[in-house]
Amino acid sequence: MVSTIQYANNPWEVREAVFNSHNLGKYEAIFALGNGYMGSRAATEEHYVGEKRDTFINGTFDKFDADEVTELPNMPDIFQLRLRVQNQLLDLNTGSVTDYQRTLNLQTGELTRQFKWQVDEHHLNFHSSRFVSFHDRHVLGSRITITNDGSVDLPLVFESGIDGQQSNSGSQHFNDWEKRQYEDKVLQYVTKTNQSNIVFVITAGQSVTVGENSEIVNTRTIMPRRQLLQEFTIRLAPGESLVFEKNAAIFTSRDNDVLYPDKESLQQNGLQRVDQLMRDGYQKNLQASIDAWQQKVWEKMPITIDSPDNMDQLSLNFARYHLHAMTPAHDERMNVGAKGLTGEGYKGHTFWDTEMFILPYFIFNFPDTARKLVKYRYLSLGGARRKAAANGFKGAQYPWESAWINDGESTPIWGGVDIITGKATKILSGFIEQHITADVAYGTNEYISATQDRQFAERFGYEVILDTARFWTSRVEWCEDKQRYEIRDVIGPNEYKEHANNNAFTNYIAHWNMQLALHLIDRLKQESPLVYDQYDQKMDLVSLRRDLMDRLAKLYLPQPNAAGVIPEDDTYLSKQVLDLQQYRDGNNVGALFDHFNLDQVNHMQITKQADVILLLYLFEKQFSAQVKHANWNYYEPKTTHDSSLSMLTHTIFAAYLGLEKQAEDFYERARLIDLGPNMKSSNDGIHAASLGGIWNMVIFGFGGVRYLDGQLRINPNLPKKWRSLDFRIWWHQQELHIHETQDQLIVENLTGSDRIHFEHHGEQCFVDDTLTIDLKQTASK
Ligand code: BGC
Repeated sequence: MVSTIQYANNPWEVREAVFNSHNLGKYEAIFALGNGYMGSRAATEEHYVGEKRDTFINGTFDKFDADEVTELPNMPDIFQLRLRVQNQLLDLNTGSVTDYQRTLNLQTGELTRQFKWQVDEHHLNFHSSRFVSFHDRHVLGSRITITNDGSVDLPLVFESGIDGQQSNSGSQHFNDWEKRQYEDKVLQYVTKTNQSNIVFVITAGQSVTVGENSEIVNTRTIMPRRQLLQEFTIRLAPGESLVFEKNAAIFTSRDNDVLYPDKESLQQNGLQRVDQLMRDGYQKNLQASIDAWQQKVWEKMPITIDSPDNMDQLSLNFARYHLHAMTPAHDERMNVGAKGLTGEGYKGHTFWDTEMFILPYFIFNFPDTARKLVKYRYLSLGGARRKAAANGFKGAQYPWESAWINDGESTPIWGGVDIITGKATKILSGFIEQHITADVAYGTNEYISATQDRQFAERFGYEVILDTARFWTSRVEWCEDKQRYEIRDVIGPNEYKEHANNNAFTNYIAHWNMQLALHLIDRLKQESPLVYDQYDQKMDLVSLRRDLMDRLAKLYLPQPNAAGVIPEDDTYLSKQVLDLQQYRDGNNVGALFDHFNLDQVNHMQITKQADVILLLYLFEKQFSAQVKHANWNYYEPKTTHDSSLSMLTHTIFAAYLGLEKQAEDFYERARLIDLGPNMKSSNDGIHAASLGGIWNMVIFGFGGVRYLDGQLRINPNLPKKWRSLDFRIWWHQQELHIHETQDQLIVENLTGSDRIHFEHHGEQCFVDDTLTIDLKQTASK
């Protein structure tokens, strides 16, 4: 597997240096364009076997048939171009290709591609660019310039338009409804999802111009099944170019910014928007998008790492670009998929990845967007309550995978092959990976305590906290022998262990969730009796409080053994130990399941991802330094890091423990999960949590920013080679500018309307205006 990825000398560009049609998936995913409303994989203009020409509109879930779960449907494509030179179809596996380069500019959100292609006596110079607008979320555009570099006329025929022959790996979610052309230039394709009945209207204006000695010989419109295309026949004189522009707009009946979501109104919207886009032209439309990226993201919350290694800033920019491309900042009825909007992997579903690894970036940088992400969980309470009731529990039990707010549990039932039985493996996460319910409460509470958004808390957030806690009061099981409550038969973060009893992470976070609810009830009663009464009427807080007191007093929390190791679950420590060396190599993790099935792995001390380590990281104050080190030493060697959520947690925790070398090693590896040379790692889409994790590693790990129990702490741990880290965060409705060097920590309160309080190595610090701390002095104390 030869890497073709190249990083420019500036921190904003990632490049594909050589075309290789075996690497399609990698670049389709990492070069995907998006604006949170839509995401489009960077499929090449010309077709290749194995390509995935995916474009998704966030939140437009559909269920293919009764046996499948709901998924984001792959909508008609607008970027494909079928180009023929005489009878030769453009295909870079044929002819001779030189000067190839495809570049994603993270700052502007523009994807450009260029190459020279020679077939027979024809020399063609190809240049394309495209964007998904960050200014107007319905808009996308592309421009292709083809120049005749040869000495004879270049005869070209190309087709482009709107292509509804897409599917989700074979599942076709759309009907073939209405296609129409307006005034030779504008194509409109109307279609509807089969089960959820969401209307999609795709409108594209196409225009071709050629040099003065060249000729557009013919233009015709064709409507094959599920396609609406225009075919252009062109004679291009030597040295001259053709420019093909496409300006498109997409509207759906699920959009929250259209006044009337009926088909005719959406069609009108599309036509009007495209009319304006065509008047303005590609360049102006692109510029509006570039300005929006600049104003809404890069200038608003700049983060600068001063390091001799360009990858430090580049990987952070890459992560931030994708975080904004995938996150629906416009609509709280949807959330972030585990693969963003960049692939069919995980079907567009939302996991705990949001609360644990993606939400922090938004809480600290864009709290308005964070509010929408947590509000989504509030709006999903109906499905969570249904799930709890169906399983015989009280309160709200959140789905392991969620899609549209009403869908409830959306985890598929069947997964990959079991190499021993030859049958499909049953996915149990939807049934027993239950820590998600507490993770949702965790995210909600993080948002509330960092922003102090009382209005959100009182109207929405508290309900989530109380009803998730109520779930746990009914979920814990009384163990008569041991006179304690236990949580049996779960999957913890280590998904290699099914039917685990007392997974430490699950027990602790469930306990934390119940404790939070108990404190909340007592605080509301004391401080906000009106709010208390409201909730009491709706949710009977007296009985909830009684149950919480009882469960909290008697819930089993696995304790460190004599060596300081917390058992991951009841039987983990007594299982066989396997030498994992061959599986811990980043490119070979999957090989574990070529040699063993899940049942066998279940009987070994193997951990998929941070589990006890995540527990220690989240609930740091509850454990001694000795316990933290003992567990690091015990579990890390037994961890395959077979989830992109793992290394980021290990980076932050290692930085916190003062394990500088390990922290930097994990950071190097974690940031390369998508961006690195592994040409297969991103085929199903980028890893959303790991991208959130890049920000977490920089700001929490090395910047040393943490918030625990509602308290802000800043203990910088910059890698030695970093000269400085400069960033901003929002905390308690104040914008803080933080500048860290090897010697100094400067915290400036840019808002300045409230005094900010944070902890620095055990000392309480207050900032009204600017505070400078000499780190050399702290270190010598
Ligand atoms: C991980 C889960 C994660 C999911 C989606 C799985 O491989 O084990 O923790 O939520 O991927 O990213």
